Amino acid sequence: MKTDESTRLFDEAKKLMPGGVNSPVRAFRAVHGIPRVIVRGSGSHVWDADGNKYIDLVSSWGPLVAGHAHPRVVQAIYETAKRGTTFGAPCPAELELARQVVQRIGVAEKVRFVNSGTEAVMTAVRLARGATGRDKIIIFSGCYHGHSDALLAAGGSGMATLGIPSTPGVTSSAVKDTIVLPLDDKAAVSRAFDENKGQIAAVIIEPAPANAGLLIQDREFLNFLRETCSREQSLLVFDEVITGFRVAKGGMTELLGIEPDLMTLGKIIGGGLPVGAIAGPASLMEELAPNGPVYQAGTLSGNPLAMAAGAATLDLLDDEAYDKLEGLGLKLEEEMKNALARTGVRGSVARLGSVLWLCLGRHTPPRVHEPDEEGARLYAGVHAGLLERGVYMAPSAYEVAFVSLAHTEEDIARIGSALFEALKEAA
Ligand SMILES: Cc1ncc(COP(=O)(O)O)c(C=O)c1O
Repeated sequence: MKTDESTRLFDEAKKLMPGGVNSPVRAFRAVHGIPRVIVRGSGSHVWDADGNKYIDLVSSWGPLVAGHAHPRVVQAIYETAKRGTTFGAPCPAELELARQVVQRIGVAEKVRFVNSGTEAVMTAVRLARGATGRDKIIIFSGCYHGHSDALLAAGGSGMATLGIPSTPGVTSSAVKDTIVLPLDDKAAVSRAFDENKGQIAAVIIEPAPANAGLLIQDREFLNFLRETCSREQSLLVFDEVITGFRVAKGGMTELLGIEPDLMTLGKIIGGGLPVGAIAGPASLMEELAPNGPVYQAGTLSGNPLAMAAGAATLDLLDDEAYDKLEGLGLKLEEEMKNALARTGVRGSVARLGSVLWLCLGRHTPPRVHEPDEEGARLYAGVHAGLLERGVYMAPSAYEVAFVSLAHTEEDIARIGSALFEALKEAA
C-alpha cells in the first residue's frame, strides 16, 4: 500500500505541530505505524492522501453515528452558514437542539451547551461543587473525562494508550480533591465516603466506560453508586459523552433505568462539529450563571453551525436507526468472534450496541482497567494488517470501534475477512 503522501504530509506536520497532531493518539505511536492523513470521508469510508480507501470504524472517535458527510447534516450546516456562522447571541438553532435533548433525556430539564466533552465534564464538576458546597470528587481509574486538570488522574483514552498515569503541568493542588477509585469496587466507594464524610460533591463515572477498552459495568455497582450518592447527598454524574445518543435515545441512563443527577454529553450531540453539553434538573442547572452563582461561559458556545449539525444528526436517530445500529453491531461482534475462533488467537469482544472493543489477549473482556502489554503488541500487528486490507480501526488497543448508520452488511463482512487475515498474519 502506498503511503508516500501521508508520510510527506505528516513529516511536514511534525515541523509545525507537536508530534504532528492536535490530539496525541492520532500519531499512531501505540501501533508503531504511519498515520494516514485523511483527505475525505463519505458514508462508511475515508480516503487518505495517497488515495487509499478504508472502511472507517473510528467514526471520528464516536460523533459520526450517521457516517461521514451525511447529506442532511451537510445541508443543515450549509443552510445555516449562509446566514452567518456565529453571533455570540441567542439563536434559534440552539433552541432546536435544546428541545431535542430535553425530549430525549429524562434527567434533562435544562441543558447548557459548551464546545467539547472536556468542557462539559469540567463544568459539571464546578456545578456539583457550587451546588453542594463540597470540594471532593470521586472518579474511577480507566474512565476518561477529558483533559481538564482535576480529571486527568489515572485516565483512560490517550493516557491509557500511552501508559501515562498523570501528567506534568497538573499541580498537586489541582488534584488534591480528586479521589481515584477502582471500578467495580463497592467497598472502595464506601471507604472513600466514610473517610471523607460530608465532603464529596460528586461521583463521576462513564456508565459504560469506553476509554480503556469497553468495561461493561455490573448494573448492581451503578445502582450502588446511585443509592450511595442519594444517601450521602452527593451528586451522581454520568459522563455520557460517548454513550449519549449512541446506545439508545436516552443513552445509558435509559438502558439502565438509573437516573444520574447530572449528565454530560458530547460527540454525537455536535454531529461532527465541536459541541458538549451538561444536562440536568432545572433546580441544579439554574445554579449556573446568569441565574445562579456558578460561572461558566463560551464565545462559541451554542454556535449555530454546530447546533444545526447536532440537531440534523439527532433527527436521524429514531427507533429504526437504533435497531439498525444494534443489528450491525451484533453482526460485527459475530464476525470478530468468528475471526478469533478460526485463527485460534486468544481474544474476546465486548459490545454495547454499535460500540465494540476487540480485546486481544484475554478470553473474557475485563470490567476494570487492566493494561495488557502483550495484547497491545498483538493489536499493533493486527491494526497494521487491517489498514493494509482497507479497514481503519483506532490506533490503540484500548480504544473502541464505532459502527455507524452508513455501514452496510457488506462492509461488516469485509471487515470480518480482513480481520481473519490480519489476525492470522499477526499471530
Ligand atoms: C467519556 C468522555 N468524556 C469526556 C471526553 C472529552 O471529550 P472531548 O475530547 O470532546 O474534550 C471524552 C473524549 O473522548 C470521553 O470519551
